Amino acid sequence: MHAKQLQAMARTLLTFLLCIYLTLAFCVIYTDARKRVTKIGRDTVTPGRSNFTYICDPARYAQLGLDIKSFPFCDKKLSYQVRARDLVSQMTLYEKVRQLGNRAYGAPRIGLPEYEWWSEALHGLSNVGPGTFFDDSVAHATSFPTPILTTASFNESLWNTIGKAVSTEARALYNLGHAGLTFWSPTINVARDPRWGRIIETPGEDPFVVGTYAANYVRGLQDVEGTEHFKDLNSRPLKVSACCKHFTAYDVDNWKGVERYSFDAKVTEQDLAETFNRPFQMCVENGDVSSVMCSYNRVNGIPACADPKLLKQTVREDWNLHGYIVADCDSIEVMIKNHKWLNVDNETAVREALVDRSLQYLYVVLMRLGIFDGHSQYNSLGINDVCSNEHIELAAEAAREGIVLLKNDNGILPLATGKYPSLAVVGPHANASTAMIGNYAFDPWNKGTPCRYITPLNGFSSYGRVNYAAGCSNVKCPDGSLIGPAVQVATTSDATIIVAGIDLSIEAESRDRLDLFLPGKQTDLINQVANASKGPVVLVIMSAGGVDISFAKNNPKIHAILWSGYPGEEGGQAIADIIFGKYNPGGRLPVTWYQADYVDKLPLTSMQLRPDDSNGYPGRTYKFFDGPTVFPFGYGLSYTKFNYTLKAATNRLQIKLTKFQHCRDLPYKNGTFKPSCPAIAIDDLRCNKKFKLAVEVKNVGNRDGDEVVLVYSQPPVGIVGTHIKNLIAFQKVFVAAGTSKTIQFAINTCQGLGIVDSYGNALLPSGAHTIIVGDGAIVFPIQLTYR
Ligand SMILES: *[C@@H]1O[C@H](CO)[C@@H](O)[C@H](O)[C@H]1NC(C)=O
Ligand SMILES: *[C@@H]1O[C@H](CO)[C@@H](O)[C@H](O)[C@H]1NC(C)=O
Ligand SMILES: *[C@@H]1O[C@H](CO)[C@@H](O)[C@H](O)[C@H]1NC(C)=O
Ligand SMILES: *[C@@H]1O[C@H](CO)[C@@H](O)[C@H](O)[C@H]1NC(C)=O
Ligand SMILES: *[C@@H]1O[C@H](CO)[C@@H](O)[C@H](O)[C@H]1NC(C)=O
Ligand SMILES: *[C@@H]1O[C@H](CO)[C@@H](O)[C@H](O)[C@H]1NC(C)=O
Ligand SMILES: *[C@@H]1O[C@H](CO)[C@@H](O)[C@H](O)[C@H]1NC(C)=O
Repeated sequence: MHAKQLQAMARTLLTFLLCIYLTLAFCVIYTDARKRVTKIGRDTVTPGRSNFTYICDPARYAQLGLDIKSFPFCDKKLSYQVRARDLVSQMTLYEKVRQLGNRAYGAPRIGLPEYEWWSEALHGLSNVGPGTFFDDSVAHATSFPTPILTTASFNESLWNTIGKAVSTEARALYNLGHAGLTFWSPTINVARDPRWGRIIETPGEDPFVVGTYAANYVRGLQDVEGTEHFKDLNSRPLKVSACCKHFTAYDVDNWKGVERYSFDAKVTEQDLAETFNRPFQMCVENGDVSSVMCSYNRVNGIPACADPKLLKQTVREDWNLHGYIVADCDSIEVMIKNHKWLNVDNETAVREALVDRSLQYLYVVLMRLGIFDGHSQYNSLGINDVCSNEHIELAAEAAREGIVLLKNDNGILPLATGKYPSLAVVGPHANASTAMIGNYAFDPWNKGTPCRYITPLNGFSSYGRVNYAAGCSNVKCPDGSLIGPAVQVATTSDATIIVAGIDLSIEAESRDRLDLFLPGKQTDLINQVANASKGPVVLVIMSAGGVDISFAKNNPKIHAILWSGYPGEEGGQAIADIIFGKYNPGGRLPVTWYQADYVDKLPLTSMQLRPDDSNGYPGRTYKFFDGPTVFPFGYGLSYTKFNYTLKAATNRLQIKLTKFQHCRDLPYKNGTFKPSCPAIAIDDLRCNKKFKLAVEVKNVGNRDGDEVVLVYSQPPVGIVGTHIKNLIAFQKVFVAAGTSKTIQFAINTCQGLGIVDSYGNALLPSGAHTIIVGDGAIVFPIQLTYR
């Protein structure tokens, strides 16, 4: 009977169902909603919310002519799981299937309204995704810096605060009928290679930083104050629902004809556990995210959205996800068409019980959001909570905290206010607006914009008389015809600021880079302007991935360089405030800036992080690449100087083994000392020990400033195939000039000293580990022994 019904619907719905069958874990599977938008027009797209306050409102049921008592899913005395089960049990199979896309059609017969699952909030609410939309009554939302720049602040509290601001704006739009409450953000794939087009969306190349960002941002979006430590995670209330994406080993978009839709990522268990999956694990375990999105690509031959080991076993069981798993746009169709996966046409295999379970995951999330019962604490949020002064100031603060000072010859910066009456502000980004907000912000084909734009020109105009010349027609800078006027203004102005770099025409979703140079004639523009400038020359680079600007680093006529990421709607003000010393920069690079020849040495499609000696490929990221760089991971200068002193540290850790804990072997290089018990599996340890260090940070310069203290560990010398070093903790601290602060770190031993072996097992090696603080200002050993 069910099989017959299914067959009838299968022509159009086969792909959805197949997916559920294949993954056993799936919930929402969406169609190409964007295609639909263009096809049937903006006004037919369902808003995130209808005109009711909440589903189980007795008055609403009365109005619908339905007896609420016959719907136990509206009974608040029952648990969400019981209610979700009841709701699903009341639906026909036809109704169930209609809830499986991003647009859920609802079931009027039982009072279930439509719901649009797809909204985006990568760095502020966006009009990408039909669940959120803007019109004349709600035209704007705050566009914070893109994640790659916000990450550069290395400030966990900032990441969380931005999440809170975004979810406040989301609740306000929901109340206004302009948004749903489920956001498919953040993007937490590791920026494995500088060519990848989506680095703009990520928190950089270090899995621990990415995971820490994810957990903080997700908690900012999701947590209802006071319920962060709720015991029953199935009923923990949600402010909005976040989604960590794209799981997993997804970081090739479109490179030399290799597209994400057909890309088969060949990854080792080691890289999967250590690099690709780690941020997702932290997002689920530390962030308690309520959704994970699987990616388009295959992982070792199996589409990521069809791998029960990854989805069901790893995410749902091992990490204990409380929420739903969603497939990326069309990835089911992609699975069938591009991967030719299984070559199936077998509708009968789909079991209805799997659909039921998937739907239950969905409804528990909607119940936690209060869509069934209401969530009174957010009902008063409205238009005044969107683009509030507080949020606009937070966007500016995030840009200031993220911007990285890369060069500052002879302390030329900050420029003294008033000493430079005229300023040449030149370069293809000198008047940047939309470029500053990057992607997942405001797509031009839909209504909606940021609260406002403060372009670099606007920002500098509060510090002097601005002489503007773009120097190039766009960032591709195809010819040198506009260089002359830029050189001209530089010769006559008292200081020169060149705002250059790249944008979404060079690095973007579906667009990987082929080289690491500035495009077209930008290098000529910069050199000629610098050469001709009357006053000091400051170069500002807008980009996500690193750019090989060795020429500028080595050119003595370019006195200072800043990296501004894509700094969000307030970016121009932040850049100007830093250059004129209103704010002392403290950001650090979240990715390695490789030299240009790096990309000639290995293809983007080789997923491996470690050097591949058989092909002569170098390693990737600071953890595995020790060649020359333009600027290393973690690099960043300040207008002041800091001095570190180790005040206290754990030097010895002894772990007593029980008879159930067995020593694991580790490969050691010949001629190095190998302990008799080389390691224990972390799964076999209680991992409740912490080691501590206290670092005094003294501001020995004459300006107040922020310092990011980075703590790395190095495994015992001799172990084959481990990382060069591994970031295990960081803290950002404000230190007034001439004063000092002591920062305490207490680091979990397994998290801080663990490694992943070549089989993908997490192990805690014994022996002499090394702790490195900052650039090596402090180095000390920790001896770990088993007995
Ligand atoms: C709410 O929506 C229903 C169904 O679309 C409609 O009949 C009703 O008039 C609406 N009520 C208000 C107050 O807009
Ligand atoms: C980190 O961010 C928080 C929240 O925005 C801010 O209050 C704090 O000053 C920042 N810390 C530093 C050291 O800049
Ligand atoms: C369809 O799937 C069922 C259950 O897995 C299997 O027994 C059957 O042989 C399949 N039919 C076809 C045509 O592949
Ligand atoms: C800067 O760009 C804006 C559009 O974003 C434009 O209206 C304005 O005229 C430009 N300014 C100059 C000086 O060209
Ligand atoms: C720099 O300027 C000098 C004098 O204006 C000129 O002779 C020289 O060619 C310029 N160099 C570059 C690299 O533009
Ligand atoms: C910085 O600290 C080192 C020792 O940690 C000390 O030798 C040096 O004098 C200090 N520098 C300043 C400027 O305080
Ligand atoms: C280490 O020594 C063993 C035995 O002497 C030898 O078989 C092996 O190839 C050596 N390994 C390396 C990496 O030199």
